[in-house]
Amino acid sequence: MSITKKSFGANCLYFLGLLLVAATITLFGIAIVAGGFEGIVKLGGSCVIAIIIVFALLAIIHIYSVWIIKPSYKKFSKIREYFIVNSIILLTSLISCFVYKYFSPYAIPIATASLIVAMLLSQRLGIIVGVFTSSIVGVIAISTDAMLNGEISIINFGGILVGVISSVCATFLMHKGFNRLKVTLGSLIIGLCIMPIGVPFGFLDPNPTFLSVLRICGNIFFGSVIAVALETMLLPLYEAMFRIWTDYKLAEICSLNQPLLRELRAKAPGTFAHCLTVSTLAENCAIALGLNPFMARACAMYHDVGKMKNPQFFSENQTDGYNPHDDLIIDVSVKMITEHPQEGAQMLRDARMPDTVIRAALEHHGDSTLMFFYLKAKGLTEKNLNKDEYRYSNPKPSTKYSAIIMICDMCEATIRAKKPQSKEELEGIVYQIIQGRILDGQLSDCDISMKDLAKIKTSVCEAIPSLMHERIDYDKAKERR
Ligand SMILES: [Fe+2]
Ligand SMILES: [Fe+2]
Repeated sequence: MSITKKSFGANCLYFLGLLLVAATITLFGIAIVAGGFEGIVKLGGSCVIAIIIVFALLAIIHIYSVWIIKPSYKKFSKIREYFIVNSIILLTSLISCFVYKYFSPYAIPIATASLIVAMLLSQRLGIIVGVFTSSIVGVIAISTDAMLNGEISIINFGGILVGVISSVCATFLMHKGFNRLKVTLGSLIIGLCIMPIGVPFGFLDPNPTFLSVLRICGNIFFGSVIAVALETMLLPLYEAMFRIWTDYKLAEICSLNQPLLRELRAKAPGTFAHCLTVSTLAENCAIALGLNPFMARACAMYHDVGKMKNPQFFSENQTDGYNPHDDLIIDVSVKMITEHPQEGAQMLRDARMPDTVIRAALEHHGDSTLMFFYLKAKGLTEKNLNKDEYRYSNPKPSTKYSAIIMICDMCEATIRAKKPQSKEELEGIVYQIIQGRILDGQLSDCDISMKDLAKIKTSVCEAIPSLMHERIDYDKAKERR
């Protein structure tokens, strides 16, 4: 990797920031553990050594995340990742110092930092952050203990070990697929799993009793519950501050109680039903492609919100049989219809929705042609028509999510209209739709492969029969008998 002047300057700034974070954690940590700022004066030069060690530990995390795993720079800017990691280490370290001093060294909630980093950035980075934050708290506790009491208590090492093991367990158990029950159960399971670590430390006591061993185990259990409770409190703040869309938040915006979805259901019930069906198809496709099903669902639920402006111009909402296009000139009809992606994207920007969802709304028709109106216009004139005048004027899908929505959207509408009677007919329709998108160049701006498209076809064909199945008219069946 070549180091440019700019990147060298930026890295110097990053490391200067790390030094500031290290000094803050160490000095405030020592003040908490020593029971006041006079503790810092008593420690004197040892504080500088502690700051250097903490800085080195933070630098290792930084180097690991920037140069070794490069976890999520496509999703988040480097600077945002840097702030998330350092702020959560700072917060967790100081809370842990407080718990260490006033409650028990075995109850330090280091797993909070690992869980938040794992959920927002990456699981591997979460584990590294947990291990190093435990070490940072250990350095503060050990140096304060050594300088003030003249000896190092074994309890400090017990606390570090518990911190490391609880972080690793929490990150593996709870970094994905979470709900409230899983969070509660997860914290209890982690607590129960790591409780036995307290037994050997309990017997290291000069006069071990059953109660003293039980107390240590209880503190370890309680620490894991505090860690998960803190994570539950802090995660929404981080999501809001750094505008990060975790599965939690994506599931929230897919709730039918969301204002935009409630409005869509009230103003355009046909479009709302269409979005629900597309969301099931898109979710299936996302799972098949290894993408985030929550994100695919959100993209599908909101892709047609722009139709709310003029719902009656879209066939799925013309339940009374009246079609306003019959009374309009074709150019006006085309304008009314082709505006909905931009209208929707604007509504989603105003509602501060995820960028991927906004893009899916804007790109789900790409710059494809409104064939129905093009052919209708062609039938009314002898002149040669410019096909481009009957096209949407939006960007083509730039993400796999937008491509999935484009295909599922067309499949839902076409299959609802054509009602295929056999599996072969259904597969033929889906194949034609995908081929049509490829030949029209609509999928040329996103990195979707032929293998991905084959998986999308299979997923759609598998899901459609259960979504659009016929029901038996039992009354007619009785009459026939
Ligand atoms: Fe649309
Ligand atoms: Fe649609």
